[in-house]
Amino acid sequence: MKISSAEFVMSNSDVAKCPKNNLPEYAFIGRSNVGKSSLINMLTSRKSLAKTSGRPGKTQLINHFIINKNWFLVDLPGYGYARVSKSSKKVFQKFITAYFSKRTQLVSAFVLVDSRHEPQKIDLEFMQWLGENQIPFSIIFTKADKLTKTKLPNQIEAYKNEMLKYWEEMPNYFITSSSSGFGKDEVLNYIEEINQKMANS
Ligand code: GTP
Ligand code: MG
Repeated sequence: MKISSAEFVMSNSDVAKCPKNNLPEYAFIGRSNVGKSSLINMLTSRKSLAKTSGRPGKTQLINHFIINKNWFLVDLPGYGYARVSKSSKKVFQKFITAYFSKRTQLVSAFVLVDSRHEPQKIDLEFMQWLGENQIPFSIIFTKADKLTKTKLPNQIEAYKNEMLKYWEEMPNYFITSSSSGFGKDEVLNYIEEINQKMANS
């Protein structure tokens, strides 16, 4: 898919205030620092559309970006960031869960996990929660550039094995690198296919 336009629309912490139109929407979620905002920039080929940082906790709100004037990408705050105070963590969790349970325009979530790390309890639990709430999702393994060509498939294999303890099959997944652009076409084509199906139905 060709991205001809990508524009920031709004930030807020209240799902009720998100854009009112019915355009299909795809949201990026995962632990702080996993690379959600960087991936939005990589997919749209815009260097600083979404704000990124080497320090976790950068994205703090629900951020809507409109792509090609007909669908949304949503950048969300990360979960599992230890240095955020307990009270603000609770507020985060509340509006993130409200976003996922109330946002009817959401077509699919992308749960980002760092391809270098072993499966983390917080991610597995979040995917479990999405499943229980019948919210479709794919997994995106990020920062693939940080692993060698032999280590990467081993990590993915180990992740699959862990997932198969809880899921009948491995969910749809992608492998990406925001620094090299790896995986860009796969993710964009996947979104395009769904958008086309929805437009024709
Ligand atoms: P929060 O907003 O804090 O939840 O973080 P985030 O998930 O949006 O992460 P962000 O995109 O801000 O990236 C965090 C750090 O990881 C930054 O220093 C990025 O440059 C780096 N990073 C993100 N993606 C990649 C990648 O694919 N490869 C490499 N090498 N670094 C990456
Ligand atoms: Mg971010």
